[in-house]
Amino acid sequence: MTSDGMSLRERLEGIRTSGLAAFTAAVDEEALESARVRYLGRSGELSAAMASLGGVPAEDRPAAGRLANEVKRELEAALEDRLSKVAVAEVASGASLDLSLPGRRTWVGGTHPVTQVIDEICEIFGELGFSRAAGPEIETDWYNFTALNIPLDHPAADMHDTFYLDDGVLLRTHTSPVQARIMMDGEPPIRILAPGLCYRRDAWDASHAPAFEQVEGLAVDEGIDFVEFRAAIAFFVRRFFGSGVKTRFRASYFPFTEPSAEVDVSCILCNASGCSACKGTGWVEIMGSGMVHPAVFEAVGLDAERYTGYAFGMGPARIAMLRYRIPDIRLLYEADAAFLEQFV
Ligand code: PHE
Repeated sequence: MTSDGMSLRERLEGIRTSGLAAFTAAVDEEALESARVRYLGRSGELSAAMASLGGVPAEDRPAAGRLANEVKRELEAALEDRLSKVAVAEVASGASLDLSLPGRRTWVGGTHPVTQVIDEICEIFGELGFSRAAGPEIETDWYNFTALNIPLDHPAADMHDTFYLDDGVLLRTHTSPVQARIMMDGEPPIRILAPGLCYRRDAWDASHAPAFEQVEGLAVDEGIDFVEFRAAIAFFVRRFFGSGVKTRFRASYFPFTEPSAEVDVSCILCNASGCSACKGTGWVEIMGSGMVHPAVFEAVGLDAERYTGYAFGMGPARIAMLRYRIPDIRLLYEADAAFLEQFV
């Protein structure tokens, strides 16, 4: 081999050694780029060495060319390898990412507190054989009033502050029309719960909302008496509020039940000693209820001699307010995530 051939070979070996060292020593992309330009660039050391290949004697040229290509591939591979390591190191060192920033919060959805109460009511009555039912929010005045023994000219119909949509068509003011629909749908035994929205032209204040939920309950069979009714309600109260909570039936009036009762529970907030939630009485009303009025059985075509039953309607928003000490019903309907998050 000629001295020229030897010198090119040495030159290439030198480029290999110093090029690899330069890439390894580069600590960031900038340093790596200048090393690339110096050794592998268009007018870099390797290009210059390859340009001198023409001056190498013909017999040494193939070997020198192979070596030049080998050095080029090796340097390119080393550059690639270093480039990926430098990029990872830069991220980890925080050069382009602030690892001290708090992580992004992920929003976890949850069940609305009123829905939680509804589900729990349904679960407890489910143990007594009640299943869920539903009816339309847009009703006729026949189902909402007439079938329930409320004549349209009766003051009770006015008391409901109805949203009328059309002649005889309204937004249901309570879930009781579902009672009529269920009884017309099939023969007893019937044990259903019908949760859903109701509407009244009511004030929008701390204790009233124009759209609010009710859970209707209805049990109809042969031989259901007041004792069974009281036992079912007392069972529910103990399960829902706790065994220390007392139930009180207070005589009341609804056109579709007879006798009618409002059900109170001993105040869970003050242990019945008197507070603002129970207005100092120690008792909080949780539902309207009673034995199904024979006139309702007649309206829906059931034999009032054969069947008896009980019905109740409760307001899960009120119950949620009591349970979670929520002072204003509007909080439950304003879809404020910061408030609702507490119940997730
Ligand atoms: N529907 C009545 C109301 O809205 C509640 C109720 C339901 C009363 C069933 C008795 C029986 O006030």
